[in-house]
Formats: sequence, C-alpha cells, structure tokens
Amino acid sequence: MQTQHRDNLVEDQLDQVKALLLEQFHSTDPQIASVLKTLSEQQGKMIRPAMVLLCGNLFGSIRPDHIEFAVMVELIHMASLLHDDVIDQAQLRRGRPSANAQWSNTTAILLGDFLLSRAFMLAASSRCDRAATLLGRTAQVLCVGELKQNLFKGHLDLDEDDYLRMIEAKTAALFRCSCQLAAMASGASEQQQEVIGEFGRRIGLAFQIADDLRDILSSETQEGKTLGTDLLQEKFTLPVIHWVNQDNELKQSRIRQITTAETPEQVIEQMQLSGSVDYAMEYARSQVRQAQEQLASFDQAPAKEALFAFSDTILADIA
Ligand code: FPP
Ligand code: MG
Repeated sequence: MQTQHRDNLVEDQLDQVKALLLEQFHSTDPQIASVLKTLSEQQGKMIRPAMVLLCGNLFGSIRPDHIEFAVMVELIHMASLLHDDVIDQAQLRRGRPSANAQWSNTTAILLGDFLLSRAFMLAASSRCDRAATLLGRTAQVLCVGELKQNLFKGHLDLDEDDYLRMIEAKTAALFRCSCQLAAMASGASEQQQEVIGEFGRRIGLAFQIADDLRDILSSETQEGKTLGTDLLQEKFTLPVIHWVNQDNELKQSRIRQITTAETPEQVIEQMQLSGSVDYAMEYARSQVRQAQEQLASFDQAPAKEALFAFSDTILADIA
C-alpha cells in the first residue's frame, strides 16, 4: 500500500506517534530491552495511526489525545499480529522473520501480551474514560473474530455473511475504533463519531478483503510476509466462498477440487477464470465507495481530500 498520499498532511504528527510508540518498547531488563529493540525496528505501515490523525484533522487540530490514541491502536494491532503469526505459523512479517520464527512461539505470544499491556496502561492514564472502554471492547471483538476464523477453518459451508461478520470483527473493528477515537479526542458529537466510525468500518472491510486477495495473488517479496497460507490452512476467504457458492450444481465438485487440489494454484486459476476474484475485488471497491460517501457531510478541506486519497490507496495494488 502506498503511504505518500497522507504524509504531507500528517507527517509531523506521525513522527510524534512514532516517538511515543518507541517509548512503549522500553524495558529496564537488558535481555527484554534487546528483544523489544529488535521488534521496534520492524515498523509497519502505520495505517491505523494515520487514520486517527487524518480523521482528527477532519474535526480540527491535532491534540495530545490523538497522538496517544494513535499509539494505543498501533500497539493493539502489533500485539494482534504477533499472536496471529503464531496461529498462522507465518515465518515472515514486514520483510523479516516473524517474531515466532526469530525467537519462538512463546516469546511472540508474550511480546504480544507485553504490547497489549502497554496499550492498556496508556489507556488507563488517558483523561477520556470512554476511550479505554472502546479500546477494551474492540480488543475483545478482535479476539472473537480470530476465534471465529479458527472455528470456521476447514468448513466449506461458510457463507459470505459468516465471512463478512468474521472480518468485521477481526479487522474492521480496529479501523472503526481508530476513527471513533479521533472524533472523541476532537470532542465531536456522538453522531459524528458514528459517521466517521462507519467510514473506518468500511475501509477495514475493504482492507481485509484486499489482504485476503493478496494472499492468493501477490508474492512474498512484494508483501514481506508469508503468503499462500489461507487455502493451505483451509481459511476460506471471499473469492473461495463466492466460487464454491456460484453454482449449486457445481458446488460439490468445487468443494472436492479444493480438498483434493495438489497445489493452491490450480484452484486460484479456476477462481480467476470464473470471475470470483473479480467479484471479491469489486466487493472491496464498493466498500471504499461507501466509506467515502460517509465523508459527504464534512466540509471540503485538505483533511477531507487527504482522507479520500488515503481510502483510494487501500486497494491501489490489487484493483
Ligand atoms: C491478521 O489477519 C490478524 C488480525 C486482523 C487479527 C488477529 C487477532 C488476534 C490474533 C486476536 C488477539 C487480539 C489481540 C488484541 C492481542 P490475517 O492473518 O488475515 O493477516 P496477515 O496476512 O497480515 O497475517
Ligand atoms: Mg496471518
């Protein structure tokens, strides 16, 4: 995903987020400090912090609360990825060996717990009680989403609604939360918090569908993480669900093809030919459009343009 679109408007503010984020990786124990240092050097795209800042700019000027909330959501995101890579047995993240590959599953899980604790320490010291409640609830929703995904593994009777509810929980909830926190920090009305939260939710859905498409269409060098695992691990995503349910008469034979295919590529090619990959891409595009519609009620301003441009980049490399 490109990031330069947002940088002009929020670059300095993102630097403040990065500085406060780095402080969270501090430990007085030299061994732990060394592991945390390595982890802190594997920075991600900072998409959720950028959303907090871009939405904050939409409501006015950026306050210290925006910076703190941006750090909290990034910490929760990082913690969830540390755990996710253990669950997915992924070997690569952000172009480097994942924490579980570099150290061990145990270390990766405990590092995730450490970052999660830091997020909640920050939230506890926030002046905004509602922010801590929202973050706590969102972290719980992420866990439910991930639990659902694991319960769904191998179940080819999963339908589109099951999948959408699952990605809404595991991914869109944190995007929604990031935008709502921005509105809260700005003192925006409940109604504005809802509108901007819906913007975030739709962007989150588009983001996860695109992420799932990359798993089957992209390369590990491009993405810097372990790919091609969804089908192998029987995690069925939108193109697969569409392909299986596209024609009732073909359903059983397609299920057989998935379970007996020697390589995932055989199934991926079929999904491309039958239009299921295009279907998923169009679904993601429509989520971005619906997200952008949420911005209609805001005045034209550089922040609105930046948020529009930012939402266009969510799918830039797949659409
Ligand atoms: C990435 O999905 C993972 C998530 C969006 C959520 C993971 C959530 C948990 C592990 C629950 C624990 C939550 C907390 C707060 C610690 P993916 O595997 O589709 O994406 P990837 O391709 O980037 O790995
Ligand atoms: Mg994963």
